[in-house]
Amino acid sequence: MATINELTPPYDVGYFVGSLSADSINRLLSKALIRLAPEELRFTEISIRELPLYNRDLDGDYPQVARDFKAEIARQDALLFITPEYNRSIPGALKNAIDWASRPYGENVIARKATAVIGASTGAIGTAVGQQHLRSVLSFLNAPQMNTPEAYITVRPGLITPDGEVTDAGTETFLRGYLEAFFEYIERVLTVVPKAR
Ligand code: FNR
Repeated sequence: MATINELTPPYDVGYFVGSLSADSINRLLSKALIRLAPEELRFTEISIRELPLYNRDLDGDYPQVARDFKAEIARQDALLFITPEYNRSIPGALKNAIDWASRPYGENVIARKATAVIGASTGAIGTAVGQQHLRSVLSFLNAPQMNTPEAYITVRPGLITPDGEVTDAGTETFLRGYLEAFFEYIERVLTVVPKAR
């Protein structure tokens, strides 16, 4: 097991897909990202779909599903949010998951994690407004965020195959660069904010 200040890749990246849809374009994007990532990044999906609606009355007795969810986040080196924009914000399911992760008061497991945000949309401004809302939430939760590159992906049919292959060379190059930047960002954050093990 690694010790404090040890900066040896691979780094564990937990990722959230903000959509619950069976044919989610953000899930396709997650597959593409995993294919294109540097080998030093090890990805695990942290599922948000089993969580009930957050209720602070349960803070003293968190349901097991929420305990497991928080434990999975806690063991990660970094978190990646891959999410659609719903009505110019983030989907309720994702916000609900973040609320579970943030409580009980003082036990916010998102704090100090290196984070990055990316999203796919069928619309022209591809999740830009939703991502700003998410960034605001992550700021409040004290999570360092990769500021650039930003990644707003407008998805046309066929851009990403069901296996996660990107069919457009320019998009593929962009996503590779985004992931390389995230790798470097994780390393920088771990240098100044070592993970408590
Ligand atoms: C959308 N969509 C959408 N797109 C966008 O760019 N900005 C928006 O504010 C919204 N709002 C919105 C609300 C709701 C309730 C739905 C269902 C959809 C369209 C959205 O980009 C499109 O449905 C994507 O396919 C959603 O991503 P997933 O679920 O395929 O990953």
